[in-house]
Amino acid sequence: MFTANGLIVYQLPILEDNFSYLIKQDRSNEALAIDPGDADKVMKLVEEKGMDLKAILITHVHAKHVQGVHEIKAKTGCLVIGPPNAGFEEIDQDVADDEECSIGLFSFQTLSTPGHTKDSQIYLFEDFPLIFSGDTLLLAGAGRIFEGSTQQMYNSLKKIRSLNQKTHIFCGHNSYEKNLLFALGLEPENEEIYKRLETHRIRSITTTTLQDDLLVNPFLRLDDPKLHHALGFKHKPSDLQVLEELRIRRNQLS
Ligand SMILES: [Fe+2]
Repeated sequence: MFTANGLIVYQLPILEDNFSYLIKQDRSNEALAIDPGDADKVMKLVEEKGMDLKAILITHVHAKHVQGVHEIKAKTGCLVIGPPNAGFEEIDQDVADDEECSIGLFSFQTLSTPGHTKDSQIYLFEDFPLIFSGDTLLLAGAGRIFEGSTQQMYNSLKKIRSLNQKTHIFCGHNSYEKNLLFALGLEPENEEIYKRLETHRIRSITTTTLQDDLLVNPFLRLDDPKLHHALGFKHKPSDLQVLEELRIRRNQLS
């Protein structure tokens, strides 16, 4: 459980390495679910805490992020919000890039972040501040580029990087340790990576702020000359070349 300015975030480890989330404010039972890939786990907590589930927010429609939607919607009658043209029939309301949304007590903004899929989007709760970054930005890493182009993923990561540096990141997969080990291979001198490897297992929730993730995440430091050197570039590469090279190398690790 994580709290910030009266908002409570429940991070639910589901399936092999996914995260679903439930959020509520401490002054109300109204709740939102994000990427509910496991209806049983989400509904168990909803019932345990007496939550009034108002809506489900979907970052993208890969099965592990949406396979609980049908059952939860049928049980609670909640609204389902997701990307436009995602081809997922459970979505009741799609949201455009940079759209402000209000559901009950919650206000948030959607940001279109294509790259992992053509219609990935993230949800920004500026008042706290925090984001649900789906499979676009992962802690110490980034999602694979399945449907979009490297350019799109670059733009999406740049958009996230420009947010308030105090923003907490809640991502769609728990690949933190793998990502840290990958980053360590590139930056064996980076003491911050060792610290994270030591501490993340004993923490009850997997999140960091954007400014802390920048210290260990090569996908957020495409312009870092030390990284260029580690990747073997002889001349100053473009950010896109760096992203491409990082992606190729990271994909080889699963
Ligand atoms: Fe995905």
